[in-house]
Amino acid sequence: MNNYKTYVWSFLGRLSHWLLVVSFFTTYFTSFYEELLTLHVSLGIFVFGMLLKKIVWGLIGPRYARWSDYKFSLSELKFYFVEKVENRYREIHPGHNPASSWFAFLIIWIGIICCLTGFVLYGIQEGNGIFSFMNRNFYSLMHIYEDVHILLVYVLIVMIFFHISGVLVEQFYHKTNMVMAMVTGYKKAKGTDIKPRFWMIFWGSFYTFIFSLLFIYSYYIPNNIFIESKFEKIDYKVLHKDFQFECSDCHNLIPPHLLPKTSWIKLMNEQSDHYDEDLELEKNLVDSIEKYLVDNSAENSTREASFKILNELENSNRFTITETNYWKDTHKNIPKEVFKNDEVENKSNCVACHKDFEKGILSDSNIIYSKIK
Ligand code: HEC
Ligand code: HEC
Repeated sequence: MNNYKTYVWSFLGRLSHWLLVVSFFTTYFTSFYEELLTLHVSLGIFVFGMLLKKIVWGLIGPRYARWSDYKFSLSELKFYFVEKVENRYREIHPGHNPASSWFAFLIIWIGIICCLTGFVLYGIQEGNGIFSFMNRNFYSLMHIYEDVHILLVYVLIVMIFFHISGVLVEQFYHKTNMVMAMVTGYKKAKGTDIKPRFWMIFWGSFYTFIFSLLFIYSYYIPNNIFIESKFEKIDYKVLHKDFQFECSDCHNLIPPHLLPKTSWIKLMNEQSDHYDEDLELEKNLVDSIEKYLVDNSAENSTREASFKILNELENSNRFTITETNYWKDTHKNIPKEVFKNDEVENKSNCVACHKDFEKGILSDSNIIYSKIK
């Protein structure tokens, strides 16, 4: 065993490494909670920034962080593993070895693609963020982005598992004290100490600061470009005063985009026997409201809910939303008692939990979660 010691990882390099670890896992855990979607996306922006930084750092950073110091030759990679098996106390290279070079390269690019599919998914599925313009005709492709996004996350997690195992083998079997390298910056290897230049430190700190600000901006500032929804509040009173007036008397107004054409036509045809109530609407009123509902039905909306309800109810003539599998499925985690408590009263009282429901807004960020506990 040798006693060489080389300073290889700069403070900023180590800081970025750990920031990436923490932000990646926090992003991962927030993905399990619908109500944390905004936080998930904001953290994703930070992870994305840290990954991009690694690419630039490889061009301008200190010696061992540079792409030119990475080893991508396959024969070197093979030799690395042969030596690892044959010589327990081999000398290690100060920078990236062939295995960690490939690892870093792959994790950066897979991570970047994973973030990008996430941003696109947020645009297509929710109609939110910079890619909200993609929430148009090809909404049906959304599940592909979702599958790719999730698949890549698990590829990353498996890779991280191998990375940690590799470091532990170095630490305890080869006794290279590898764990401490990412803490102190020193590696037990023969090489020249790095001396980060002022402008490197300046650029690196400035960049990290900017992405921290972007995270704060997207999470704390309402309606910013990374989060903003393309769906604005709809004032039905202005757009169709009769619909608003006649249909919000006994229950909250139900946005037309939540049912397909045929369901609305059926509902309006049966208006004299609407859940045992006679709406007593005159013919011209029925026609005009029906036309408005049909013109703005689920077929003409790119919202997630419209798409899913349409899939289920198309041509079925059914119009009780609360009886669709989609509705039951999205609400299955809410305890039954909640629908009977004083504030909610019954499950058709959508506004109790969906603030701005009567303005056509159904997004996750508009749900009043305190009502559900
Ligand atoms: C006289 C009272 C009354 C009026 C006015 C009224 N409804 Fe209803 N509506 C009901 C009742 C009662 C139900 C059964 C569900 C409930 O308890 O809210 C219902 C349910 C619905 C549902 C199914 C909701 C669900 O739970 O899935 C839709 C859709 C609906 N109404 C649309 C309309 C439309 C459109 C108008 C205007 C043309 C309208 N309603 C006017 C009484 C009314
Ligand atoms: C007791 C509170 C409550 C009531 C009442 C309620 N919802 Fe919800 N709704 C929720 C919660 C919570 C979610 C989010 C569930 C999740 O995604 O895990 C949700 C999700 C949804 C979604 C999916 C939105 C999305 O983008 O994922 C739709 C659509 C929806 N509700 C429609 C309705 C309609 C229509 C009504 C009235 C007939 C209604 N809800 C009544 C609490 C409620």
